[in-house]
Amino acid sequence: MEKALEEARNAGTLQDLERVRAAYLGRSGLISEIMKSLGRLAREERAEAGRAANAFKDSLGKLIEERRAALQAGMPAGSGFFDYTLPGRWRGLGSKHPVSAVIEEAARIFGKLGFTVAEGPDVETAYHNFEALNTPSHHPSLSPSDTFWLDTGELLRTQTSPVQIRVMESRKPPVRVITPGRCYRRDTTDATHSANFHQIEGLYVDQKVSLADLKGVMAYFAREMMGPKVAVRFRPHFFPFTEPSVECDFSCHICGGSGCRVCKNSGWIEIAGAGMVDPRVLRTVGYDPEIWSGYAFGMGIERIAMIRFGIKDIRMFYENDIRFLESLA
Ligand code: PHE
Repeated sequence: MEKALEEARNAGTLQDLERVRAAYLGRSGLISEIMKSLGRLAREERAEAGRAANAFKDSLGKLIEERRAALQAGMPAGSGFFDYTLPGRWRGLGSKHPVSAVIEEAARIFGKLGFTVAEGPDVETAYHNFEALNTPSHHPSLSPSDTFWLDTGELLRTQTSPVQIRVMESRKPPVRVITPGRCYRRDTTDATHSANFHQIEGLYVDQKVSLADLKGVMAYFAREMMGPKVAVRFRPHFFPFTEPSVECDFSCHICGGSGCRVCKNSGWIEIAGAGMVDPRVLRTVGYDPEIWSGYAFGMGIERIAMIRFGIKDIRMFYENDIRFLESLA
């Protein structure tokens, strides 16, 4: 009996398996021989032997069926051998979304400089998103045509800067954090705008922090993220919660600075808003601006991902087209 099971298990082809089946379960196979001979036994023995023969028939039958399925699955239809040279079935390989890839890389780079990661809620209070950031209630960014307001009086945060406030409210200086997250603005979607996008905020508050520190950190980050050839420049700007404020551009990664469609022929791509934390903001969270100073920046993650991965349309990030994600793998 063991021998029959063993033979079925080892059958390498459908033909072998059929031979095993015929030898044991076929019309003139072993089982039918046994069944025929049962009549010669005494009555008590007959019942016992019949049960044993049936049990054997069932288990061998089952094993043969399983083996047959396994052989058929591994073989091209109609052929009697397994072709090891055939290509396997491609099940597809997942890849990291570029937004996640940039967040992880930024956490690694800033991690080396002593920054830890903090997070805040997507649904924010007007206090954290605007007021504590020194943004007056008549500021145009509060208007319902710019900001998604909720019935509760809260809003979908328009920037990651409110996390600065939350971090400073809950910790004593010095602080050194980056805060990646989703932001929402009522922007009309086009190749470079989306109502939903991501930023990485950075905040460093300590004694005697200067604009030169900010510049050094941005230049370091740019080189680590884009490679050694990237140049960084600051342009004067205005934000209610920083003074002085700047906008930070990276030289265009795609044309190397000579001008192309992506950088609109300027050779530069705007990456971040930044500046020295306004003393009023420090006072609001209970930090003494006579002792503490700091810088903050907010970078657009999709912008970075677009130039790093050569993506020409921001909408690609959200359409979840498997071909787009595969092209980045
Ligand atoms: N929150 C600003 C924006 O979304 C960027 C910024 C962050 C500017 C931190 C200065 C300091 O445009």
